[in-house]
Amino acid sequence: MTVQLDHQIAVRLEAVSKRYGDLLALDRVGLSVAPGEFVCLLGASGCGKSTLLSLVAGLDRPTAGQITTTGRRVAMMFQEPALFPWLTVSANVEMAMRELPRRERRARAEQFLEMVHLGGFGKKRPHELSGGMRQRVALARSLAQDADVLLMDEPFGALDAMTRDLLHDELERIWRERELSVLFVTHNVREAVRLGDRVVLLSSRPGKVVEEFPVRLARPRRTDSAEVATLAARITDQLKQEVARHAETSRPPTAHHAQTSLPPVAHRAETSGQTGVRS
Ligand SMILES: Nc1ncnc2c1ncn2[C@@H]1O[C@H](COP(=O)(O)OP(=O)(O)O)[C@@H](O)[C@H]1O
Ligand SMILES: [Mg+2]
Repeated sequence: MTVQLDHQIAVRLEAVSKRYGDLLALDRVGLSVAPGEFVCLLGASGCGKSTLLSLVAGLDRPTAGQITTTGRRVAMMFQEPALFPWLTVSANVEMAMRELPRRERRARAEQFLEMVHLGGFGKKRPHELSGGMRQRVALARSLAQDADVLLMDEPFGALDAMTRDLLHDELERIWRERELSVLFVTHNVREAVRLGDRVVLLSSRPGKVVEEFPVRLARPRRTDSAEVATLAARITDQLKQEVARHAETSRPPTAHHAQTSLPPVAHRAETSGQTGVRS
């Protein structure tokens, strides 16, 4: 169990560094998420976002620094929903509640499926659902872990824009209803502004917090609204500067490299299948 150290903090990283051999992936990152806060972590591909989340989830250990999580449980959600294909949708959600009696598990799974607008789909298998529906199941499973801290690693990155918009609305509703603390990783600037109370910008290799942008726009926001676009443009400028700075300092400045270093649009299916829980 995590010791309750500070009631104003759901997640705190203090001077967290992570080294893989010669590669410094994260460099003294300081970051905190307050209870009930929605924080988006934004950065170019390879800057250490997934590394940071896996450290917070307890799937890996930092090389230096300290990570504190308070609250009941931390759940992690990846870009790929990682459902068991041979189990029904309901059984996939029930997996998160193995400590409960079977009948209660089933009833609660149905409640969580209703929460993500999948009531009545419990008997289906994952392959019978669309990509967006499968991500809803993954979200229901995270909620079923009784987590109040949700770590999300580009969870909607593989979805089409319309499905993503719908899931933004639903995630926002559930976040409010259940008073979750969310650390949401993305390289999509508009998505970060659509969802976050705060957007934290990470620099590239080594990943380091370079700037934080509070998002004071009224909710619910629309990804295609002028307000979101204006702030997203400001953040994108900063992100491009970071990427350009990195391109100048870390490698010979060839035209080819400068081009490929721009904020990415392609998605990498880079996450493993497991759901990480730390109590
Ligand atoms: N297990 C690992 N072993 C070695 N290098 C890794 C490992 N995980 C990530 N890296 C490296 O650390 C850097 C950050 O990776 P990652 O956290 O996946 O970035 P992001 O999620 O921002 O795209 C990359 O250069 C990546 O190649
Ligand atoms: Mg990643």
